[in-house]
Amino acid sequence: WPTWSAHPELMTSPTEPSPLSASASQASGQPASPVLLSQPLFDEVHDWLASQGPLWRPAGDTIWHLDDWTRLLAGSPLAQAQGLLTTPTERVDADLLDLLPHLRVISQMAVGYNNIDLQACAERGIAVAHTPDILTETTADFAMAMVLGAARGIGAAERQLRAGAWTQWAPTGFLGQDVHGAILGIVGMGRIGQALARRPQLGFGMRVQYHQRNPLPASGMPDPAQAPVWLPLDELLRTSDHVVLLVPYGPGTHHLLDESRLRSMKPTATLSNLARGGVVDDEALARVLADGHLAGAALDVFEGEPQVHPALLQQERVMLTPHMASASHATRRAMAWMAARQLQAGLMAMSGGTSDGPPVRWVPGAQPKRPAG
Ligand code: DGY
Repeated sequence: WPTWSAHPELMTSPTEPSPLSASASQASGQPASPVLLSQPLFDEVHDWLASQGPLWRPAGDTIWHLDDWTRLLAGSPLAQAQGLLTTPTERVDADLLDLLPHLRVISQMAVGYNNIDLQACAERGIAVAHTPDILTETTADFAMAMVLGAARGIGAAERQLRAGAWTQWAPTGFLGQDVHGAILGIVGMGRIGQALARRPQLGFGMRVQYHQRNPLPASGMPDPAQAPVWLPLDELLRTSDHVVLLVPYGPGTHHLLDESRLRSMKPTATLSNLARGGVVDDEALARVLADGHLAGAALDVFEGEPQVHPALLQQERVMLTPHMASASHATRRAMAWMAARQLQAGLMAMSGGTSDGPPVRWVPGAQPKRPAG
């Protein structure tokens, strides 16, 4: 694995052509393969990546669509990139991969990777890493904020206060549902689901029930005697006071909560979605809320985000946040570092080398198949 020097000249704005020509990089004796970032990260992470080798990153917060990539990569040495660092924002499909024929590793700065076509990656021998664990606790914290926000109508209350509509403390003002002592239903008991399950047990005296394909062993819970109870999905929805969605998105979970399931929930229940847009039918949710069926909802993810279904925007009893569950200073920095280091370690592994750091967290089934020479 070569030691690359930084190529700051590669850090162009998306609208400027790259000043690095293939012949220039060959003449310098350096490999001509930069790594690409789809979005800017943090300065110290950029500096480290640039110290490892040629790096290109967008100058602004541009969201990269295929057209942008096509413009950037056409006739550019950037098309020789072997490494790409992505986020849940970008769609990584066969069309994009065809623009990057030398790509070997994608490092996703997220635990979820439904934006990446893994089949297209496998067909091209591209390995895919992601950043599980590091965001678990921060996301579970935020899940509690969503449950509390939905139950107590915090979003709507704040909007009314800011609009000058709060005139006095009133006995019947801003009434919501209790969280303490209630039944929390978690759909998707992976790392984040389990971290969430520990919180209400310890702090809110809640009973926790969950659904996922296979029941979990009770160990790992603060009090195994009160371990969360596994239920079939429909029973969980019927019996929970507050439901939190944390399942991965895919064909099997598209509109998992459709209108009939939403209507099967208690009229006094709340729904929080921290999974992915598309797990809930947002339009149906807006209808159900409009009918006064649920007490409230809290959504951090949306079908077609950053667009939000206009019918949801009309609803008062839903708290809407911009896919920010993992967004603490410390966690987003840690995710960026992990994604950057895994990008470099992954490239090294693909070349048959090894790195000193922790093992790369490959997406299941998307690890390197063979060391390339
Ligand atoms: C993830 O990691 O998948 C989250 O949605 C990003 O916050």
